[in-house]
Amino acid sequence: MKALIAAGGQAKRLRPITWTINKHLIPLANKPMLWHVIDKVTNAGIKDIIINVNPGEADIMRNVFGDGSHWGAKIIYLEQKGGARGVAHVVANAEELLRGHKFLFFLGDNIILGSIQRFVERFLKEDLDCMLAFSRVKDPERFGVPEFREDGTLKRVIEKPIDPPSPFAVTGIYLYNEKYFEAYRNIQPSERGEYEISDINTWFIDNGKVGYEEITGWWKDTGTPEALLEGNALIKDDTPKELFTIESEIPIETQIQGPVKIGKNTRICPNSLIRGPVVIGDNCQIEASYIGPYTSIGNGSQIKGSEVEHSIIFNNVTIDTRKRIIDSIIGQHASVVDVMKTHPHSGHRMVIGENSTVEL
Ligand code: DAU
Repeated sequence: MKALIAAGGQAKRLRPITWTINKHLIPLANKPMLWHVIDKVTNAGIKDIIINVNPGEADIMRNVFGDGSHWGAKIIYLEQKGGARGVAHVVANAEELLRGHKFLFFLGDNIILGSIQRFVERFLKEDLDCMLAFSRVKDPERFGVPEFREDGTLKRVIEKPIDPPSPFAVTGIYLYNEKYFEAYRNIQPSERGEYEISDINTWFIDNGKVGYEEITGWWKDTGTPEALLEGNALIKDDTPKELFTIESEIPIETQIQGPVKIGKNTRICPNSLIRGPVVIGDNCQIEASYIGPYTSIGNGSQIKGSEVEHSIIFNNVTIDTRKRIIDSIIGQHASVVDVMKTHPHSGHRMVIGENSTVEL
């Protein structure tokens, strides 16, 4: 089997962060989001992987994930011709590489806890044409939603319906065989101009053998800032305790509680409290601060006299403020400092990118 991972698209809902970084490279627990997806795919025994990327981004992605040898796998980077033309187009774009294979199609912004191996095994054992995974959600209108007939069988999948016919989202973890390409030739772009994966799934319901399962564990599409923070938190809960290692020398007086991972060459002054689950990168400096649960701090960041909780702090960030920082996403090289440190007058001095949110 092969796997195709979608890592293109524009990720408008995550701006301003995604003005400068592809969404799939946003760190969750200090590893790029897509890293966790590759972990899932390879843990299910699939080692032949194609990553779909935006035109011009193949080298950026290759520099981060390499040729797959880290996972004992082979990774090929394929640029999506014409750019983001819809989720269904991602697969069509890879037709040459996927023909003659059964394949897993994984949307790179989907984070799931637990293994997908059972799901793959059922698809193969029952010789299905298509296998879908559903998750019960509060806001099905944001997703592809399955509609069932009165006898409980699947009728169709509707993309982002105004009036959802069921409380389920079709998650971005799909299994198909090569009938996919026949399905693709039978669909048209939707009103928003995209080739919709929901139309492919409806075609399979009408023309093939489709299986589905409900994901009862945790699943998240990390398309919004809130979902990203939840993804960051849940990945920490999913990480085995033995992977929370401390690679720097930490003074005995520093209070470390719960699972905490600290990289190399990081200095933590004794008057700090780190309450896990927390991941702190290499070359950081933490002074007289409280780092609370579900925080990730990227390499080279400095936190002084501050309190930070349930937040994603990228690389080389400075935080030096008496204000408590919670539920925040702070991009590379940004600083959050108290007004008196930078300016003699009262008031707040800011340089804030488009679509940022600041609550003062
Ligand atoms: O997350 C599950 C949902 O994903 C499904 O329930 C929907 O049926 C499906 O259409 C999709 O909806 P989204 O609105 O979340 O799709 P999004 O545009 O965010 O793209 C999903 C992933 O695919 C994301 O990792 C970006 C990537 N992508 C997207 C497009 C449109 C590409 O690589 N190329 C593309 O052309």
